[in-house]
Amino acid sequence: MCGIVGYLGQKSPVPLIVDSLRTLEYRGYDSAGVAYLDDESLLHVYKASGKLLNLEGILPNELRLPTLPAESVNGHRNIGIGHIRWATHGAATNVNAHPHTGSRQEIALVHNGIIENFYELRQELQAKGHQFVSETDTESVVQLLEHLAETETDFSKVILKALQKLQGAYALTVISKKFPNHLYAARHQAPLVVGVGKDQNGNDEYIVASDAVAIVNHTNRLIYLKDGEIVEISPAGLRIMNLQGEQVEPVIETISTDPLTIDKKGYKHFMLKEIYEQPDVVRNSLTGRLQSIHQPIWILGDTPEQEGRFDAHLSAINRIVIIGCGTSYNAGLVGKYFIEELVQLPVEVEAAGEFRYRNPFISDRDLVITMSQSGETADTLAALRLSHQKGAKVLTLTNREDSSMAREADFVMPVRAGVEVSVAATKSFTAQITALYLLGLSLAEKRQTLAPEQLESLKAELLKMPARIESVLHNTEPLQVLARKYGQARDVLFIARGVNFPVALEGALKLKEISYIHAEGYSGSELKHGPIAMLDSNVPVVSVLTKGPVFEKMISNCQEAKAREARLIGITNTPVPNELRDTFEDILEIPESVEHFSPMLTTIPLQLLAYYMAEYLGKDVDQPRNLAKSVTVE
Ligand code: F6R
Repeated sequence: MCGIVGYLGQKSPVPLIVDSLRTLEYRGYDSAGVAYLDDESLLHVYKASGKLLNLEGILPNELRLPTLPAESVNGHRNIGIGHIRWATHGAATNVNAHPHTGSRQEIALVHNGIIENFYELRQELQAKGHQFVSETDTESVVQLLEHLAETETDFSKVILKALQKLQGAYALTVISKKFPNHLYAARHQAPLVVGVGKDQNGNDEYIVASDAVAIVNHTNRLIYLKDGEIVEISPAGLRIMNLQGEQVEPVIETISTDPLTIDKKGYKHFMLKEIYEQPDVVRNSLTGRLQSIHQPIWILGDTPEQEGRFDAHLSAINRIVIIGCGTSYNAGLVGKYFIEELVQLPVEVEAAGEFRYRNPFISDRDLVITMSQSGETADTLAALRLSHQKGAKVLTLTNREDSSMAREADFVMPVRAGVEVSVAATKSFTAQITALYLLGLSLAEKRQTLAPEQLESLKAELLKMPARIESVLHNTEPLQVLARKYGQARDVLFIARGVNFPVALEGALKLKEISYIHAEGYSGSELKHGPIAMLDSNVPVVSVLTKGPVFEKMISNCQEAKAREARLIGITNTPVPNELRDTFEDILEIPESVEHFSPMLTTIPLQLLAYYMAEYLGKDVDQPRNLAKSVTVE
């Protein structure tokens, strides 16, 4: 949530910062702002509520041209900071937009995170005469900096003293007109990366950002700051210190930029492109891990040592605890059904925000799996740390190998979905469940809980799934028709059972987040315990019916709904008997597969239904209101 950028180099900072902010819009779009110091060290701030486009609209022409202002004069470098906001404290207004400045307009600051003791700081500073203008927690930090700078001339000491007083989470970037050649940035429980590059003329330049995607157009040499680290960038170079003021040796990593490139590739929305990428996502996820039905499964895929270490741990565990939020949580539930059944090992799935605030029973005999597309979700990261404190080893399933979770986990299984830009997660869900299927099969293989022929047959089935996903994607016309037919619904229910129950949750989540239609996912069996009271002839009920142990049960649940005049839409992988077809107003057939892997197929029509409904209603599909892709505040 919120994205921050800072630049120090010889280029005109504002256009560069705006370009970088564009890649961070997935983190929020409630407001955007930039601040820079001109050649006379005057501080300029521009900010606008709403999307980045609004900020671009108010920037003077000369700040939009990459060549202006030209080379810096007086030895000053070009320096600026920028922000994209997902509102936490204070409404999405201009005045609450970042950058924030102190009362004397000397310092500008952008921040991602939440300062928990902001109110106490605010009261203290107000008592000392500082005039606050916004409702944000962030303003307390910049006012504190200005206050401390009154008596301390070394700005790095000012930053250090201020940070020592903060409670909560932050990634922040600061500039000051008194120190025009200096850019400061710091992080604590919020991500921050420093790019160390050279411009076309060979001059050093530095870009600080919440995510490497905002930097990779300029350099692939990155420093991932750790919690409690502060970076000072000046013409003398870069210096990192910790909160005690001790020097820390910078570690520069050279990364491959290809996976971070962002392009819509001709699709109308990123979400549609990402839905269509799913066959390849599954192929990528299987590559090198499941080569043929006769070879053992390879989970982590890096080195034999790493795999061996992981295997040794797997043989020692007696429980798996999967932790995630939102779509990642739903993916974890699919893993529970599959792994528990095949491996006969207890699997619990926990919402990270609940897990972290109780005193969960976790021990070194558990494998904790943190599931996170971004690898930065604050609650999931905190759950990872709590699991470590309790002695468990943590495997992270993430789409970002450069994320905080990947760095802190004991084992990392990249889910290989490629950059997911649309706020609504689609291909990352499919990649996550593919990873869990591989993990389950590998455990079944190692613990010999399946007969060799059963194992081989499941491996063969999994290898066929990309082609089957492709065939679902070739039949989207009926879903477009359904979207128009049901697009005006006020409420939609999604029901399923067994391993597809999480798919019902996911279908409802997708629909509500991008179309704002009220939707709920239930197990078909739960309908009669309450939700059935909602049903009447206005309520569409999307039911996932797959061939397997719960098919007949689901048919009964559909009939119960039909008896209350609900409008049934069946998504099925097996022909519905003729005498039952009348139960359904619409039926969409998808390819058959073994029950275990059917969520890989049943999810796709639900993603598309949500997409087409949102599109039909004219909603902002890729950037739905109130949401952000990376939830780095709790
Ligand atoms: C839904 C969605 C969110 C995320 C959730 C967790 O489409 O995108 O529910 O799944 O915020 O995010 P990650 O997976 O990055 O931890």
